[in-house]
Amino acid sequence: MLKVKKIIVGNWKMNPLTLKEAEKLFLDVAKNVSSLKKTEIVICPPFPYLEKLRKISKKIVLGAQDVFWEEKGAFTGGVSAKMLYNIGARYVILGHSERRAMGESNFDINKKIKASLEADLIPILCVGENFRDETHAYFNSVKTELEECLDGVKKDFISKIIIAYEPVWAISSTLNHHSATSDDCQEMNIFIRKVLADKFGVKIKMPRILYGGSVDDKDAGDFIKNGGIDGVLVGHASLDALKFSKIVKICEALNK
Ligand code: 13P
Repeated sequence: MLKVKKIIVGNWKMNPLTLKEAEKLFLDVAKNVSSLKKTEIVICPPFPYLEKLRKISKKIVLGAQDVFWEEKGAFTGGVSAKMLYNIGARYVILGHSERRAMGESNFDINKKIKASLEADLIPILCVGENFRDETHAYFNSVKTELEECLDGVKKDFISKIIIAYEPVWAISSTLNHHSATSDDCQEMNIFIRKVLADKFGVKIKMPRILYGGSVDDKDAGDFIKNGGIDGVLVGHASLDALKFSKIVKICEALNK
């Protein structure tokens, strides 16, 4: 069976404040990871930095943090998938809980996924429950997100998509957040595969599945080794060049 390439994605969110800082951070990571070969490295900065950063390193692939579903026209503030592709982005984070909190629905995310695939941008679809309790209803909330966000997506495209399991209660921006374990991650990873097999058929090629939520250089190895995942989606630790590079190196070492 063909080995799936592991992937480490940095989500810079709305950071840093200046292009100069963005260039330095990106360059520092690029220098640290220049000799690595087995791990795919993606950084998703804010839109205004994409084009400049593209010129710094070919090793690090660029991604955006959102997209609008129309291609062009009178959509003030919108940025289309084709525009992002044309300036060099190859991935796009969609359905992040911080955007869902601003009102984005599964229906919106579904349109964004389809528009991104159409433009050859790889969607990194974030799913994850807000909290867990003893009723285990969190499985159902992840199932609904997957089913509604992927509704009508052609079977053949499923393996191109990346699913990022990001439990909201574990994200550093959530008040009183606490860490998930690699067991939590493994359990949800199996469940996500089951939901996809039920919806699209057992024969589909599975997408890569990532974990995100306060991942840093201390626990990335445990998640990658014991969480059954294909990589991690890193928030705040991706703003520290040393920490992020260390996570990539840990993944590379495990990727034997
Ligand atoms: P943190 O790693 O800061 O918790 O962020 C996770 C995240 O939201 C990545 O998309």
